Amino acid sequence: MDWGMQNRLAGIIKPATGRCVMLAIDHGYFQGPTTGLERPGETVAPLLKYADALMLTRGVLRSQIDPGQRTPIVLRVSGGTSVLKDDLSDEEITVSMEDALRLNVAAVAVSVFVGSDHEKQTLGNLATLCDRGQKYGVPVLAVTAVGKSMTRDARYLGLACRIAAELGASVVKTYYCEGFEKVVAGCPVPVVIAGGKKIDERDALKLAYNAVSTGAVGVDMGRNIFQSKWPVAMIRAVRSIVHDGCSDEQAWEAFQRDAGKAVAGATA
Ligand code: R5P
Repeated sequence: MDWGMQNRLAGIIKPATGRCVMLAIDHGYFQGPTTGLERPGETVAPLLKYADALMLTRGVLRSQIDPGQRTPIVLRVSGGTSVLKDDLSDEEITVSMEDALRLNVAAVAVSVFVGSDHEKQTLGNLATLCDRGQKYGVPVLAVTAVGKSMTRDARYLGLACRIAAELGASVVKTYYCEGFEKVVAGCPVPVVIAGGKKIDERDALKLAYNAVSTGAVGVDMGRNIFQSKWPVAMIRAVRSIVHDGCSDEQAWEAFQRDAGKAVAGATA
């Protein structure tokens, strides 16, 4: 791997721990104004210092994020669909590599929909991006999107992650599932997990703990952070699991202390 690509990857997956807490706020690219992201710049401002990387689209980056901030950017570069359609898999590449470089990104991200009607097209998008990224030293994060008819089990996710890695992804983002260690074992590049729909904070911390303790290098978490009533406490707690080796129980205790202080501060 060349120096530029290694350097960009080291900005995302921290060499000190080999782990990563990525904050995902790219949901609007097909969902529109997702709850908590109506004003994304305001949402992420207090969170950025706890994020190893920020995953978002070009439009939100340009319009909402201070160019003076230093958190590495993972730019979503696939899209072209919306929640108004039943089939979300009909994606294309939405940003040129030249524009991604102009935006000084650390990586680009693309969804693959293995088993969908547009499997070949989305895998082609990934392969094309890997070629373009290779030319300039830009790593590609492949997101294993799961269609409604697919089951999020180790067999399916293991297949999707392995295909993404085989086509050249530097990092793969997928979902946690039972038997997750098999998904990781079959994937020759680092794996991070998405958080999924908002769940109770205690359960989201358990999810993060289970993922890293079965081989994920970290999380690329969105709604379970920015839709929490206590997003700063939540990202700090997730960070303690990913980087500091805390158990989910320890992280939950820290979360409650932080959230309690936030409540006390707000009512003082
Ligand atoms: C989905 O396609 C997007 O890439 C999101 O960034 C991803 O689902 C992670 O966010 P969440 O933790 O909210 O699932």
